[in-house]
Amino acid sequence: MTKLKAILVDHPLIQHKLSIMRDLTTPTSKFRQLLREISLLLAYEVCRDLETELVDIRTPLETMSAPKLEGKKLCFISILRAGNGLLDGMLDLVPPARVGHVGLYRDPKTLIPVEYYLKLPEKIEDRLCIAVDPMLATGNSAAAAVQRIKDAGAKRIKFVCLLAAPEGIEAFSDSHPDVTIYTAAIDRKLNDHGYILPGLGDAGDRMYGTK
Ligand code: URA
Repeated sequence: MTKLKAILVDHPLIQHKLSIMRDLTTPTSKFRQLLREISLLLAYEVCRDLETELVDIRTPLETMSAPKLEGKKLCFISILRAGNGLLDGMLDLVPPARVGHVGLYRDPKTLIPVEYYLKLPEKIEDRLCIAVDPMLATGNSAAAAVQRIKDAGAKRIKFVCLLAAPEGIEAFSDSHPDVTIYTAAIDRKLNDHGYILPGLGDAGDRMYGTK
């Protein structure tokens, strides 16, 4: 068996919150709140190697050179619509980050992604782009979204999800070996409709109560 190419962020706090999210009886509002909380913890991990620059500041006692993030160089890109659930928490953590959106839906018959929206910040080539989508299922939508981001000029991209299927990690990594995947869990497999097992159902529907 080939080794899966993803960074598993399996902190006990994340695992606990994720288990509640998976539970069928968890209501929409709680589901959204937990996704936001987990996204903060995932952002903490994905931002671990961000560069800082030293700036002069004055503490109440003396001056010092203190490390600060160049938040504007960071771009979060939400893969609509479920990506917004991860985006909100990440923006709480890095408010000056720029934001892009890629709108793709999966054709229910072919499972192939179809683009309906694309808006990215300028100078994308100078930014670290963190693309977010809670579910890495077939990997088709994520790979297509990342391809759009690359076509727009981005050079450094990471991908963050909540749950990944082994098939999705494999397919995504084959298309984008240069993009590191961060995930809170790797589930067993996909079912015949492209849903992750055991999974949590349709993330968008559970976030917004649309089913
Ligand atoms: N998208 C979802 O929301 N859930 C899945 O299980 C797969 C794709």
